[in-house]
Amino acid sequence: MELRLAKVFASIRAAQIAAGEPLCAYVYDLEGLRRHAAHVAGSLPAGCELFYAIKANSDLPILQTLAPLVHGFEVSSGGELAWVRENFADVPVIFSGPGKLDSELDAAVGLGVDCLHVESLNELQRLAAIVKPWSKTQGVLLRINLALDKLVETSLMMGGKPTPFGIPAQQLPECLAWLRDHPEIRLCGFHFHLLSHQLDAQAHLQLLDAYLNQALQWCEQYRLAIEQINVGGGIGVNYRQPDRQFDWKTFSGGLPALMEKSGLSGVRMRFELGRYITAACGYYAMQIIDIKRSYGKTFVVGRGGSHHFRTPYAQGHSHPFHVLPVDAWPYAFPRPEASNERISVVGQLCTPKDLLASDAPVESVRCNDLVVFPYAGAYAWHISHHDFLRHPHPIQWYLPVEDDAHAANEQA
Ligand SMILES: Cc1ncc(COP(=O)(O)O)c(C=O)c1O
Repeated sequence: MELRLAKVFASIRAAQIAAGEPLCAYVYDLEGLRRHAAHVAGSLPAGCELFYAIKANSDLPILQTLAPLVHGFEVSSGGELAWVRENFADVPVIFSGPGKLDSELDAAVGLGVDCLHVESLNELQRLAAIVKPWSKTQGVLLRINLALDKLVETSLMMGGKPTPFGIPAQQLPECLAWLRDHPEIRLCGFHFHLLSHQLDAQAHLQLLDAYLNQALQWCEQYRLAIEQINVGGGIGVNYRQPDRQFDWKTFSGGLPALMEKSGLSGVRMRFELGRYITAACGYYAMQIIDIKRSYGKTFVVGRGGSHHFRTPYAQGHSHPFHVLPVDAWPYAFPRPEASNERISVVGQLCTPKDLLASDAPVESVRCNDLVVFPYAGAYAWHISHHDFLRHPHPIQWYLPVEDDAHAANEQA
């Protein structure tokens, strides 16, 4: 078994022994996160910048681990902006998202946000009014919703069709004309985030190629000198087939040629990745309370549920899991178990939607064993409806970042 996974499992076992009741927990492997993020950032070619989209997981230990490795943080609300600035005075921040309030725009200008990603002409106009009293210039990217000819769709589309996100490309001339009369707003470039859950490295390279081509065409057509193109986030995690993840090596290896041929020399390419950075560092563990058979199906009921871990329901998949056997069985009666069959893993909520894995094959799982869901570090706890039914929140801990000597010893 991979060493990081072994450490995570050992910590879950220790917590289960200490718990004194069925365990329900989140564990985050900060050392695993550090290694992964360092690899991603380190394999981007010169001219690229990696921002972390904190909406995926904004826990402070996560941000502290990432801050030295990434170029900055992408925030999507006044709350995220305040959280970042409260804890990181100097980290570069970019601010995206629809429906920004005047108060949020004002805070962004006041707190020195590097770049605001503007979603409409109305937002541009409100921003200009807000910037005036500050007597400074605010850098912006126009977020454009592009309709592309051969767009390969994923399961989560934010653009390429009618959506509330970004400025439809047809409205760009009007925005550019308005910007010419408002020097307090500086156009730094364009922002694109058409989709999430991208699992195909070649398709993503093609998408970025289309972004760059379009940006070049606008630069020529409207005589624009831009500094950067933000290509959004959207690199996915393969929850359905965990052994077939996004091919980062092919993707990062293809970027230099893409940038070279773009004709946009000196223009930086910014990424704002969320899921791909933090998903793999998180684990959600539930101890099994009951195993039931109902009309030909086997249900394994764990402590916790989708009110803690909404990812499978939100994305409509059956989440992969590991079973950690727990030998202790405190009762005199036989221990319920399921072996070599298909099971559905459910939680404690009174709704059939509380389904974390469905019809998944399992060798053996017994009452009191632990079921551990990997890839629970992004859009997991943070998108869940924690207080439904007033169950207690799961316990949570972070496996710390290790010092370099320790990590080198392990790798040797
Ligand atoms: C504008 C924008 N940027 C970045 C992200 C992060 O996307 P992902 O977590 O898929 O990388 C999102 C997610 O919704 C987004 O809306």
